[in-house]
Parts: sequence; structure tokens; C-alpha cells
Amino acid sequence: MIQCKTSKEISGMGHSMKRKEDVRFLHGKGHYIDDLKLPGMLYMDITRSPYAYAKIISIDITEAMKVPGVVAVVTGKDLEKYNLHWMPTLMSDTQMVLPTDKVMYQAQEVAAVIATSRYAARDGREAVKVEYEVMKPVMDPYKSMNADAPILRTDKPGKKDNHIWHWEAGDKAKTDKVFNDAEVVVKQDMYIPRIHVASIETCGCVADYDKVNNHLTMYMTTQAPHAIRTVIALVAGHVGLTEEKIRVVSADIGGGFGGKVPVYPGYVIAIAVSFLTGKPVKWIEDRSENLQADSFARDYHIHAEMAGTKNGKIQATRFKVLADHGYTDAAANPSKFPLGLFSIATGSYNYNASYMEADAVYTNKPPGGVAYRCSFRVTEAVHAIERITDRFAFEVGKDPAQLRMDNFIKKEEFPWKSPTGWEYDSGDYHAGLRKAMEAIGYDELRKEQVEKRKKGELMGIGISTFTEVVGAGPSKDFDILGIKMFDSAEIRVHPTGKALARFGTKSQGQGHETTYAQIIAEVLGIPAANIQIEEGDTDTAPYGLGTYASRSTPTAGAAAAVAARKLVDKARKIAAYLLEVSENDLDWEPGKFSVKGAPEKSKTIQEIVFAAYTNHPQGMQAGFEATHYYDPPNLTFPSGAYICVVDIDKETGGIHVRRFVAIDDCGHIINPMIVQGQVHGGLTQGIAPAMYEELIYDEDGNMLNGTLMDYLVPTAVESPKWETGHVVTPSPHHPIGAKGVGESPTVGSPPAIVNAIVDALSPYGIKHMDIPVTPFKVWKALKEKGVV
Ligand code: CDP
Repeated sequence: MIQCKTSKEISGMGHSMKRKEDVRFLHGKGHYIDDLKLPGMLYMDITRSPYAYAKIISIDITEAMKVPGVVAVVTGKDLEKYNLHWMPTLMSDTQMVLPTDKVMYQAQEVAAVIATSRYAARDGREAVKVEYEVMKPVMDPYKSMNADAPILRTDKPGKKDNHIWHWEAGDKAKTDKVFNDAEVVVKQDMYIPRIHVASIETCGCVADYDKVNNHLTMYMTTQAPHAIRTVIALVAGHVGLTEEKIRVVSADIGGGFGGKVPVYPGYVIAIAVSFLTGKPVKWIEDRSENLQADSFARDYHIHAEMAGTKNGKIQATRFKVLADHGYTDAAANPSKFPLGLFSIATGSYNYNASYMEADAVYTNKPPGGVAYRCSFRVTEAVHAIERITDRFAFEVGKDPAQLRMDNFIKKEEFPWKSPTGWEYDSGDYHAGLRKAMEAIGYDELRKEQVEKRKKGELMGIGISTFTEVVGAGPSKDFDILGIKMFDSAEIRVHPTGKALARFGTKSQGQGHETTYAQIIAEVLGIPAANIQIEEGDTDTAPYGLGTYASRSTPTAGAAAAVAARKLVDKARKIAAYLLEVSENDLDWEPGKFSVKGAPEKSKTIQEIVFAAYTNHPQGMQAGFEATHYYDPPNLTFPSGAYICVVDIDKETGGIHVRRFVAIDDCGHIINPMIVQGQVHGGLTQGIAPAMYEELIYDEDGNMLNGTLMDYLVPTAVESPKWETGHVVTPSPHHPIGAKGVGESPTVGSPPAIVNAIVDALSPYGIKHMDIPVTPFKVWKALKEKGVV
């Protein structure tokens, strides 16, 4: 039960206030990009490559230009004249806007058709004739490293291989020694396949360049409006588009999940065309383009090893990663972390030796590597540690729950320094797992499993007890393209005591309009219903790095609390003046100052704010506003204990998720209902890669499941009943003790599901299955073992 400090009327933290934004969504009044229609607007569609790797011999636009309504066709050669045919990626690599000589993946942009209607643009796109000389693509990242592999990035002078970067963390010598001396070593190769965020809303924009005022308004689906404005200024500054002349507006967004962080070629082409024509240009991807060409997630080949004692003490881990980045490194990671925050792969366990290394390579696949509902590769890390922990438990013959309990970092050991350098802020892993085990009835389930096994029935129980790392970031370590990672809040309280607050983040469905208002309500005592939240307009919002990687609460949420506290300080001065007492003689409760010992003498926050405009002390600045740019001292470390129960049909391999209990710890909870919603959604996006989703390519680079007919996004039908709960260990360094939560369930659930499936199959000697674990894979494995 969460204790609330404020009344329901104020609805500060802990109240399940209904989402303010839902009123407009439920009335069909959301403002999405495709709702926007500007006078004289042109429409853009994109001709894409049918080949994964091919030289462009010629592009013939004659027929396309004959299509009624088509006004222009733009190619890489056109953009080259303005030096706009390449752009930087977030990882300081380079990416083609439109190609001039060769294409590097199937569905790559080849030419843009501009027309007076969307239909004409689509017809024009089909009429562009491109002659290609097809080449054999490199689809396998291991083969990409071979000495005889063709060099893909011929645009990079002197590049002699397809290697992008090498990365290491931890202490190799110390870890190797522990492994050499260990009683038990387990090893496992695992592949975390390429998947897609598949948001309901695809990516798109309306670029509106005003020639007279030399001003660009970019309406777009971006999770990071300010960073995009700066990137546009850096890319287009040389043609006169400087940052004060650029406004990025992100209205409602239908899901981002990391996929709306990167800059896509479509945005840049739309800007270029609007710049050249002086007309607004709309570009909206269709569903297949979104799936086939937008940034992918995951695609890590991992070799994991764990060393320990025969009685189950974990002593060391080693991980080796091969990252397939497609033809350019366009991963959305902080600059100093090419492998994202993978080094959290040491997990929730107390041991002090770990070493990890990674290499990234180019292949003929789409670029990306976005943090799909995950704090920069934590999903991959959690999968690796939670799978190898289960492998170790199996090897030493210990129950996986007991083994975890025996190895957890204890709550009194926080802050805990991990072997790869993180300082975990707080946690109570034992309490979380105990609660999950009680909720699901773990001991009874194990007994039931014994009975079922006697009858030859397949039932499995899987656990994942993960630690996340969210809230990038402390600016000393975290930046994107050199821009330090912090976030911001600006609060203005109007004379009548109602407020407007603006943020550098951008909600894509997470409910910020409600939860930020609740944080301010908690501190100031102004009802959350009277606090209007705005995000996503760079002309009005304070600069911030945006919303992804569960960073909004740890950064902008903190900024809101600190800015509100600045206002409480000002309110104290005004209250002292109005009540004619010293500031030290006042008591504060959210919403009211009263005189110590004489509580009947008081001033409400509304009275104080009114005085700030009408009767403030001489010498004090009028008004009631505060801004804060919050630079977190550390990241926050949410955690979870998840348990999944599956029943498997031997004959078909069909997997039924019977139960799934998720106990999360995100510190102090702002809105329990929103957190539960985040967990439900996140778990569904966890079962997706665990059992259904994978982008599949053949060796010629054709994507074999480029539509939602074949790429299986789970629906309500596939989703089990999620059973949720929480433990609360506040973050000691966060102003309101909160940690992020949005991504925990996506991060933590896949290994719980796979561990359950492998547990069910373990009597037949099956020790591992790569995700997605499909009925076919299960059936095949059982057949190989002679079970069916
Ligand atoms: O950055 P993003 O908004 O995606 O993730 P988050 O900070 O984890 O927050 C997701 C949603 O859950 C927001 O509406 C938060 O305010 C809310 N939340 C909460 O109510 N309590 C927490 N301790 C953490 C998040």
C-alpha cells in the first residue's frame, strides 16, 4: 500500500490519478503528424532499393515526372550539389541521405518523389526507373570479419575491413584467473535477434520552410526535439539555416520505444525539398517501410560464461559480443558507450570479477541499433546474465530461485560497486524475489512440476531477477554528439495559483502530462489538475535531451521537483512577509505555510502566489517562476523479480504462458496506475521477442518478413494475464526517490520466459533455446531428442 502525503484533491505522488491526456485521445482529438495539413503542402514518397547491395548505374525520372501531380524527383546527385547527400549518425559515423553510387541494404532510399497529393507521390515512386548492378551482399557478421569479405564502406578512404569498433570493460587478468581456478564453468552462445520497435504510428514529418523569414518549422515524430534542432543546425548551417531559425515541434506521438530518436533520411530530404520549393512537405512512412528500413534493435551475438563453486557461489562472468550494425553505426547510444550500457551484464549478484569485450561490424542490413524500450542495450545484457545464471544453477544442481537468493547483493551492501564500474544506488533483491515467489506459489508449483514430469508432461518455471541502469545521465559521462545529457523543467505559476510547466523531454504515450503535474503537486501543493504540462516545442520548452531509456523520471522528473522546491523557498519569503513573522517561524506542508505554534495563522500557496504578483516584498522580483536543469549525480538502478510458468504441448511444441508475476522496484512511485500500465505494455513487448518477433533476411539480403502478416507483433490474444506488484527502495540520490520504470518489463521478461521454456525441456537434456522460442523450434528440439 502506497502512503500518499497529499490529498486526492491535490493528487501528488502515489495517487492513481487518471491520465489527463487521455481525454483528448479518447475523443479522437490527438494531434499526430498525419493530422497536420498546411496550405500548399506537398507530399513526398520514396523509391527504395529492391536489392541489399548494388551499384546504381542510372536513375531515370522521365516517366515519374509525367505522372499527374508529380512536381519533382530528388536523387542523391541533386543533394550532392548542396553537400546534403550524407549525414552524421548519432555514433559519429556517416549515413547516406540518398545514394549517389551504390545501395547498401534492401529498402534503402534511392529517390524521393514530390507531388501535390500522396497518391500522385506514390504513383511517381513506382515510375522511377533505376538500373542496378547487383552485388553479393554480406549478411553474416562473422563472415563480414573474414579477410576475403568485400569492403562495404568504400566511401571511407583507407578502410581495409568491415570492422567498426572494439570495446572492453572489467578486469581481464583478474577474471581469467578466477575462471582458471574455478570448480565449475558454464558457457553458452546466444543470439539476440534483430527486431523492430513497430510503434503504432510510423515515422514522419512536415518540413515547413518559410523563405521570406528564412525559418524552418519541423513538425516531426521525434523523442528528442531539441537534439534534432541542434543536429539540423549542424547539418544545414552551411546553407544558412542556423539554430535560432529552426523550430522543432513534436505533438502527440504514437509510440517511440527508441525508434524515434534517430534522424532518418526522409526528414532530411523533406527539409531540403521544402527549402528548395518554399512549400511545406509531408513525409509519412507506410507500415512496410517502417518495418523494413527504420532503425532495428538488438542483433547481438553473445558468448556468455559463468564461473563458480560446486555449491553454487557465482565468482566471475565473461561476455563476448559481436554487434551487427548494418551498413553504418547509427546506434542511438551515448558517445562514450558504443555498446550502450551492456556492462550492467554483471547482474544482481555479488561477485567481483567480470570481463567483457565486443566488436561491431558492418553488414548489408539497415542501420540502427536503437535502445528499443531499453536503456541502451540493457535488454541484451540482462538476457545474457539471466540465461547464464540459470545454466549455472542447472549445472550445480541448485534450484534457480535458491541460487539467486544465495548470490544476491544484500540490501545493506548498497551502494554497491559492480565489477564493471557502476555504483548501484539501492535495491532489495531478496524482498523482490520473495514477494514474486509468494505471489506465484513457487514451492507448490515445483511440487506440481515433479508430478507432471512423472506423467511425461512439460511444465516449466522461469525466473529473471534483473538490475537495470536508467536515467542518463550524469553529464560527466553521458553525451549525445557532444551534447551533455541532463534534462530540464520550467514552472510558471499564474497569479490565480494555476501553473504551466514545460519540459525538455517528450512523452510518446507514457503519461508525462499527468505524472509531471503530480510531482509538482507533491512539492507545491497546487492540485495536479491545475498544472498544465507542455513538451515537444523547441521554441517554448527548455533545452533537454528527450525521452528514451527510461530517463524522464530520473532526469526531468527530478528537475521538476527541484524547480518546485525553489518556488517553495520563494513562497516562504512571501509568506513571512504577509504573516509578519520570520521565515524560521514558519511550518510548511504542501500547499500551506503556517506560523509555528499558531497554526490558525497561515497562507495557502494560492494566496502566496497571488501576492507574488500583487503584494510582494519590495526588492523581491515579482512573479512566481522557476527553472532547473538537472544533472543527475548517478544513474538510478531499478530492478525486478519476474517468474513465468509455461506448459508445453509435446506433440505440437505449442507454448502456453500459464502465469507471469512481475515484481518491480522503481523506487517511489508517482502514479501507481501509470506504472502498472507501463509494466503491462512492457511485458507484452517482452513476450514479443521471447516468442514471436525476429527480422529475418536470406543470404541475398531479402527481408523475409517485412510486413505485419509475417512479423508477429503479439496482440491481446497472445498476451497472458500479467500479475504485477512492487517493492520500494527509494533512490537515495534522486530528489523524490524515484527510479525509471518504463523499460524494466521489456528488459526483464524475455529471459524469464526462455528460462521457463528451457526448464520445461530440461529433463530431455535441452539446455538453451535462442529467442524467439517458437513452437516449431521446441518441436524440432524434442524431435531431435527423440521425445516426439
Ligand atoms: O522516460 P520514460 O517516460 O519513458 O520512462 P519513465 O521515466 O520510466 O516513466 C514512465 C512513466 O511512468 C512516466 O509517466 C513516469 O512518470 C511514470 N513513473 C512513475 O509513476 N513512478 C516512477 N517511479 C517511475 C515512473
